[in-house]
Amino acid sequence: MGPMTNLDGRARVLAVLRDDAGHSRPDRLPLWLMRQAGRFLPEYRAVRADVPFLDLVRSPDLCTEVAMQPLRRFDLDATIVFSDILVIPDALGAGLSFEKGDGPKIERPLLSDAAVDALQWDGVCDRLGYVYDAVAALRKAAPGHALFGFAGSPWTLFCYLTQGAGGGEFAVARAALWAHPERSRRVLDHLTDAVIEHLVRQARAGADVVQVFDTWGGLLPAADYEAIVAPGLRRIAKRLAAEGIPSVFYVRAGAHLVDVTRTLGFTALSVDSTVDLARLVGVPTQGNLDNTRLLGGRASIAEGVARIGAKLGGRRNHIVNLGHGILPSTPPDAVSILVDEVRRLG
Ligand code: CP3
Repeated sequence: MGPMTNLDGRARVLAVLRDDAGHSRPDRLPLWLMRQAGRFLPEYRAVRADVPFLDLVRSPDLCTEVAMQPLRRFDLDATIVFSDILVIPDALGAGLSFEKGDGPKIERPLLSDAAVDALQWDGVCDRLGYVYDAVAALRKAAPGHALFGFAGSPWTLFCYLTQGAGGGEFAVARAALWAHPERSRRVLDHLTDAVIEHLVRQARAGADVVQVFDTWGGLLPAADYEAIVAPGLRRIAKRLAAEGIPSVFYVRAGAHLVDVTRTLGFTALSVDSTVDLARLVGVPTQGNLDNTRLLGGRASIAEGVARIGAKLGGRRNHIVNLGHGILPSTPPDAVSILVDEVRRLG
C-alpha cells in the first residue's frame, strides 16, 4: 500500500484502529491528548469560573464549547465528548459531588447489600441523555475529527462507588472483593451492563470509537485481574465488536497486566508510560508519553516522541497520546511543540 495523503484526523485514527499488523502508511501518526479539554487551557477555566463541573457536564452546549477549545488551538486528530466516568454513579443515585480542590465524593458508598439494592440500576442510561446529546452536538461541530465516546471500567467505577472518595490505594474497595465477594461480583456485573449500554448509546449518537478507562486496574495483581475483572471486560469488548464499534481499552499503571489486557478483545490498547511499547505487536496502540514531559520544554518533548517512534520499530498503528491526563500546569505552547514533533516523525 502506498502512503495515504491528505487524510483528516478521523481517517487517520480509523486507519490505525483497522490495522492490527501495522502495515498502513498514514501521512503521519494521529495525535490527541487525554483531558485535552480542561484546566490547562485559560478558556476552559473561564467557562468553569461561572459553572460548577457537574452543571457543565449536563449542558450539551457547554460540553461542545469546551471540547472545541483545544481543536481551535492545536492540530489534533480526535476529540472526546466532554463528560466524566462518574456520570454512571451519579445516574445510579449514589450521590456524586465534586468538592472544590478535592476529588470526587460519593455520598452513599456501597457498604451493604441494602446500599446496592437502593441504587436505581434499571434504566440508568435513560438518565444520561445529556451525554448522548453532547456526543451528537460534538459530531456536528467536529466532522473531520475522530469522535471518542467513553466510560469508566466496571472495576474503576466499583472503586469510587465502594470507597466513597477518589484516589490513593482504594483499600476499602479492594478489601470488599475478599470480604464481600458475592456482593462485589453482583455490583461488577450490574456495572458491566450499564457500561455496555452507555457505550453503545454514545456510538449510536455519533461516536466513531469508544474508550474504556480502567484508571485503577493497576492496583490489582494480574491473577486477580484475570479472575475478577477480565470476564466483565471481555463481555464489553465482545458486545462492542458485535455492534461494529471500534474500542480502545486504557489501563493506568498496568504494565504487569499486558498479558491479560491483550486477550480482552478490544480493538486497541491505550497504555501509560510504564509499558514498553516494543512488547505490543499485533495490536493497535495508543498513549505511552509521560505527561510530565510536556513540562520540560522542547528537548524533553522531542525525546519522548522520538522514543515512541523507535519503540514502534516499523509499525505505524499507534495513536500518539499521553499515558495519563494532561496536567493542569502544562503550558499550552507545549502542546504546539508536541504537534510539531509528531509531524516531524512523519
Ligand atoms: O478531554 C477530556 O478528556 C475530558 C473528558 C474527561 C473528563 N474526565 C473531564 C474531567 C474524561 C475522559 C474523564 C475521565 C475520568 N474522570 C477518569 C479516567 C481517566 C483518568 O484521568 O484517569 C477518571 C478517573 C475520572 C474521575 C474524575 N473526574 C476525577 C478523579 C476528577 C477530579 C480530579 C481532577 O482531575 O480534577 C474528575 C474531574 C474532571 N473530569 C475534570 C475534568 C476536566 C476537572 C474538573 C474541573 O474542571 O475542576
